[in-house]
Amino acid sequence: MSVEATSVGQELLRKILDALPSPVFVKDQDHRFVLMNRAGVDLVGVPLSKLVGKTDYDFFPKEEADVFWKVDETVLTEGTTVAQEESLTAEGQAHWLLTTKSRCRLGDGNNLLVGVIQDITHRKLYEESLEQRWEEALAASQTKSLFLAKMSHELRTPLNAIIGYGEILRDDCHVIDPPQLQQDAERVVRSATQLLDLINDILDLARIESGRTVPRPTDIDLACLLQDLDDIMVPLAAKRSNRYRAQLECVDSIVSDERMVRQILINLLANANKYTENGEIELRVHKIDDGVSLSVRDTGHGIPAHMLESVFEPFVQATSRTRPSHGVGLGLAITQGLVSLLGGRLGVSSTVGVGSTFTLLLPDPEPVD
Ligand SMILES: Nc1ncnc2c1ncn2[C@@H]1O[C@H](COP(=O)(O)OP(=O)(O)O)[C@@H](O)[C@H]1O
Ligand SMILES: [Mg+2]
Repeated sequence: MSVEATSVGQELLRKILDALPSPVFVKDQDHRFVLMNRAGVDLVGVPLSKLVGKTDYDFFPKEEADVFWKVDETVLTEGTTVAQEESLTAEGQAHWLLTTKSRCRLGDGNNLLVGVIQDITHRKLYEESLEQRWEEALAASQTKSLFLAKMSHELRTPLNAIIGYGEILRDDCHVIDPPQLQQDAERVVRSATQLLDLINDILDLARIESGRTVPRPTDIDLACLLQDLDDIMVPLAAKRSNRYRAQLECVDSIVSDERMVRQILINLLANANKYTENGEIELRVHKIDDGVSLSVRDTGHGIPAHMLESVFEPFVQATSRTRPSHGVGLGLAITQGLVSLLGGRLGVSSTVGVGSTFTLLLPDPEPVD
């Protein structure tokens, strides 16, 4: 081949290599770069003149260069073609590469290593995000299954009572004396009411979680709201020998969804009354820097420290049930859901045997331009 033909051939080869979107490189027997196309130079971020004659150790972190060197050595000595995924850090940026390396034997007995790279960083990141989303979906599905299992268990208890007493009434009504008859009928009604409460709670929670409950903010007159709560709480508290009082400090109104705020406070106050006997329950509403704080304090049983977070999960109860109508542990989950919808925060502090304080922080509404 003439000198001219060779140089034309080289020029053509260089043009073809530089036009390729995939990085291509050639190394000699001592692992030194002999050639790299434009895509390769762009990837490594070092000009060709500074690459030629250097090895991977001159550009990449040692642990990466160790891996490249080992594979190169196998390809150069054994002649096997190797395709493998590897990570490469160039100019401080991490890449995932699929690199195919093969050996090219020269006439003089020396070997060259030819590498062709495919940058698969985007694919890898996509795979990782898919994997993460899959894990999240799996965890959500497991949570739902657990929820369904607990819900079915809770539905079964009152249903069994209704069927049991219903059967007694059906089979023995002619032999049961009227007071007993009335007591059994009362049990059926109580269990059915409990069942309805449970179903209403589950529907409430589902509506909140599915985004079907939408807050409708209005100006809430706090004195008026507290008066309504007084009317509900004073007789309820008296039934358990509790003393109830409410305090409103330095604030007249807030902008929020009144129905939701009312439901949150009723849930917290009902809990305070349920888990307190012969004690005090206080609702305190006061202004804070960027909103309003509404706290419900009681001097009741308290919640053990290790349960303070989990009591907000559905069907989790820190106290053993003493009466069948004692609720099933959905109140705080619903409350937490409503608080999130309102953009607020709900916190709790409690000491066993001393009492608990649930604090709701409602932010001031964002100013409209
Ligand atoms: N004020 C409180 N004092 C003591 N324990 C409480 C209080 N509020 C909630 N808890 C605990 O948190 C649990 C979950 O509350 P909640 O979701 O309202 O369910 P429920 O009242 O139906 O049991 C309760 O079972 C109780 O153990
Ligand atoms: Mg409750």
